[in-house]
Amino acid sequence: MADEKLGVGLIGCGDIAPTHAKALQQTENVKLAACADIVEASAKSLGEEYGVPWTTKVEELLARPEVDLVTIATPAFTHRPLTEQAAAAGKAVLCEKPIAANLEDADGMIAACQKAGVPLATCFPLRYLGAAKWAKELIASGALGEVIEIRLRNMSEKQESYWIGGFSGRTKDDWRKYKDKSGGGVVITNLIHHLDLTRAVTGLEAVRAYCEMGTFATPVEVEDLAVASLRYDNKAIGLVEGSSCYVGRAAEPDVVFLGKKGQIRFGLWDGNAEAYLTEAAAGLPAKEWTRRKFQDATHVEFYDALAAAIKAGGTPPVTGEDGRKALEAVLAIYQAAEKGGPVALPL
Ligand SMILES: NC(=O)c1ccc[n+]([C@@H]2O[C@H](COP(=O)([O-])OP(=O)(O)OC[C@H]3O[C@@H](n4cnc5c(N)ncnc54)[C@H](O)[C@@H]3O)[C@@H](O)[C@H]2O)c1
Repeated sequence: MADEKLGVGLIGCGDIAPTHAKALQQTENVKLAACADIVEASAKSLGEEYGVPWTTKVEELLARPEVDLVTIATPAFTHRPLTEQAAAAGKAVLCEKPIAANLEDADGMIAACQKAGVPLATCFPLRYLGAAKWAKELIASGALGEVIEIRLRNMSEKQESYWIGGFSGRTKDDWRKYKDKSGGGVVITNLIHHLDLTRAVTGLEAVRAYCEMGTFATPVEVEDLAVASLRYDNKAIGLVEGSSCYVGRAAEPDVVFLGKKGQIRFGLWDGNAEAYLTEAAAGLPAKEWTRRKFQDATHVEFYDALAAAIKAGGTPPVTGEDGRKALEAVLAIYQAAEKGGPVALPL
């Protein structure tokens, strides 16, 4: 490694790119080394703002010795070819979620990185939410009791401009509207985070999915409203609800883990969490709500943990296989909606 800090080459300088670049200014183990985008204005503005070399040619970024790890922050349909290219150049790969739009591409990416002997990670920083760590502790210690219900919700109202440039409009492109490019709507775009979080916090895997979904209020091909139910491998049941056309937004928390002896619920974006236990445990009183507010720095923690694992020659904390598992749950939900009946996992 050319430097003590791992160098990141950021491919894709659109909507999510500044989140990566800002986090990389605060990390201990890793720093932004270069960026690339096929749209010159996007590459140039990010490179100039963060003081790193920029290019419109991915191969130029990959040729830089100071780039140890490549972050792929481009639309889903481009993840496989870019991962294969980066792996062939000997770079470790961090791929934005969803790892791909289908399992064949995910498998191809995992195989390419294995063949090249480079680590493949999937970007699920929400595992580093304070609330997620608290939930994991309450479940692992037995304080919550056996998990019997899991509620995952992502209700928002995305404006028309979102579909042609994301939240910031840094790069104008309508890929989010089309299933072959994005993989789908709110389930693969947003709820995939919740589905990964559930695996990380509870260790449970979905074994059956039912779903109803549709495109009700948005001129796009992908779903804007979906309600699914899941059965998990310990028999727990779960609700997965998402919308990108939820006028006025929803008030309820995004995630609830209900156990036989208590529950924990939290929002993914506001740092708020509350837990209730029937018996005092894990430093919490019985039969009272305990509220906590977390100041989260999820991308910073995510990158530091990933860089530490790569430097030590170990496995990334969130692997390509984890990305594939979350994708598989998403695809089971899509298949169930299409079929109008239950779909068993693994697919
Ligand atoms: N983890 C999260 O919380 C989170 C949030 C938003 C988006 N994302 C994911 O990040 C990825 C990018 O999303 P976005 O919203 O930033 O999209 P975007 O369209 O705003 O940006 C993508 C950028 O990639 C560039 N690009 C496309 N093909 C390329 C190629 N072959 N080589 C180099 N550059 C290329 C585009 O020009 C564009 O600037 C998606 O997979 C998305 O799901 C993750």
